[in-house]
Amino acid sequence: MGKNQWYKDKVFYQIWPRSFKDGNGDGMGDLLGVYEKLDYIKSLGCDGIWFSPLYPSPGVDCGYDISDYYDIAPEFGGMEAFKKVLDGAHQRGMKVIMDLVVNHTSTEHEWFKKSRQKIEPYTDYYIWRPAKPNGKLPNNWDSLFEGKAWAWDEVRGEYYMHLFAIEQADLNMDNPLVREEVKNILRFWLDMGVDGFREDVITFISKKEGLPDDHIMPASKGILYFNHGPHLHEYLEEFDRDVFSHYDCMTLAEAPMVTPKKALKYIDETNNRVLDMMIQFSTQEADCLFMDFNHIPFKLRKLKRAYSNWQNGLEGKGWNMLYIENHDHPRMVSRYGSEKYRVESAKMLAASYLFLKGTPFVYQGQEIGMSNWYPSDPEMYEDVQTRWQYFNVGTKKSPEKRLQRLWHGSRDSARTPVQWSGEENAGFTTGKPWFFVNENYVDVNVASQEQDEESVLNFYRKAIALRKELSCVKNGSYTEYNKASSALYTYSREDEKQKILVVCSFTEKEVPFRAPKGFDIDSARLILQNYPKAEGNIKAYEVRVYLWNK
Ligand code: NOJ
Repeated sequence: MGKNQWYKDKVFYQIWPRSFKDGNGDGMGDLLGVYEKLDYIKSLGCDGIWFSPLYPSPGVDCGYDISDYYDIAPEFGGMEAFKKVLDGAHQRGMKVIMDLVVNHTSTEHEWFKKSRQKIEPYTDYYIWRPAKPNGKLPNNWDSLFEGKAWAWDEVRGEYYMHLFAIEQADLNMDNPLVREEVKNILRFWLDMGVDGFREDVITFISKKEGLPDDHIMPASKGILYFNHGPHLHEYLEEFDRDVFSHYDCMTLAEAPMVTPKKALKYIDETNNRVLDMMIQFSTQEADCLFMDFNHIPFKLRKLKRAYSNWQNGLEGKGWNMLYIENHDHPRMVSRYGSEKYRVESAKMLAASYLFLKGTPFVYQGQEIGMSNWYPSDPEMYEDVQTRWQYFNVGTKKSPEKRLQRLWHGSRDSARTPVQWSGEENAGFTTGKPWFFVNENYVDVNVASQEQDEESVLNFYRKAIALRKELSCVKNGSYTEYNKASSALYTYSREDEKQKILVVCSFTEKEVPFRAPKGFDIDSARLILQNYPKAEGNIKAYEVRVYLWNK
């Protein structure tokens, strides 16, 4: 947790490095490509960058399986390229945060190689257990990616825990030596000048003593015992006390299944705070049950409840992290918006969250309204979790049904290369792209949107500029109206100087518009809209933002 709260004024841009921009023509995004695009990111009004992992990694989980915490992967350009980007960002007034992935390491990490051979002091760096006498696994927990949470290691003759892929072994955070390692990693990057961390599934680092069998959850067994575990607060407090509190940095914790009440245990500014912000998942669950693959029709009321719950729940105490997309979920236009009304709905989705209270994050490609990818063959998917879902789950269903399930649920849809232009490979690379480019790049790309005043890209620029200009967006109160509507999300933000009303339509049907009581539309200034004329009924995926100065 940093000394200052600069993050409250920032808008972050998330870079998933493999697919952002290739600078050296080898087909994979890299830091040379990022360097070329720093001015572009700044031009959006974004003044912070979150990098998904850049460290050396075998790439089983696209970098979330780290084999060396003290270096930058050669395919991304190595340390020299990173320092250049870091300096370049700082010169432009932008902050840079790294991904901290310490729930697990790659099984290629030196620590794991030594741990499996019981070489001290690494013997207890991971969660090892013998097989049960009846030959059964140490417990019944599930991996979130593939099968059970245990893999047998021939070398050591024991099982190790992996809550994600088999090649991602869970660290034993109860071991003080492991916590010292984490602190050294943090100091290394903070001393270099990075401005903070997004902490990958950090709420999983403390497992319940005894690793008991889970007889409660029907699926994802164990999650109640490893999420928000018994020593989580204590370990986060230790990291904060020994490291973060000595730097001007920010911390953002990824927190599956968190509620505002639970979050306040960690981010309450008035009491015992150990983190700055948390990434909640509830706003990602308006069209699925628990995970994106379990698709159900989109329900606006569910989304609105989630937004209001977080806006109200943290009010006066904690600070929200705001996002609609990241590298773990399919594209929003294809989910809560509409591909038929791609431009309108991309703009509406932008306004639906950019005027809320908190620090917004924009994920690469979101700013041009990139949409989902529909490959014809499951073999085209790269992601370890997606492949497991196709080849091992619901295998009795028809191949068509199973493929459709991936179209709805796979995070690979958000991992296709950023569409920079209408040229070959969407201008992402001059080489052969490491992954498929979404075929719609000819119509959807940055270059053409730069030329178009009314593009999604320029809408993002306007919305972000407004957000920075209006004091009520930073600190004003939040009120939601017409909660029962399954078509419109309407909210206001208000402070002593001004108030705004944001009206977002999540349907292609026309809907009558009645301003909430106390809002005189005739005396308002319309400051943002996605149709040439904002009059009468609310049109398909329309958004209007009205301003009243006091
Ligand atoms: C959450 C990350 O965002 C995701 O991409 C990754 O696969 C898992 N944690 C495991 O590290």
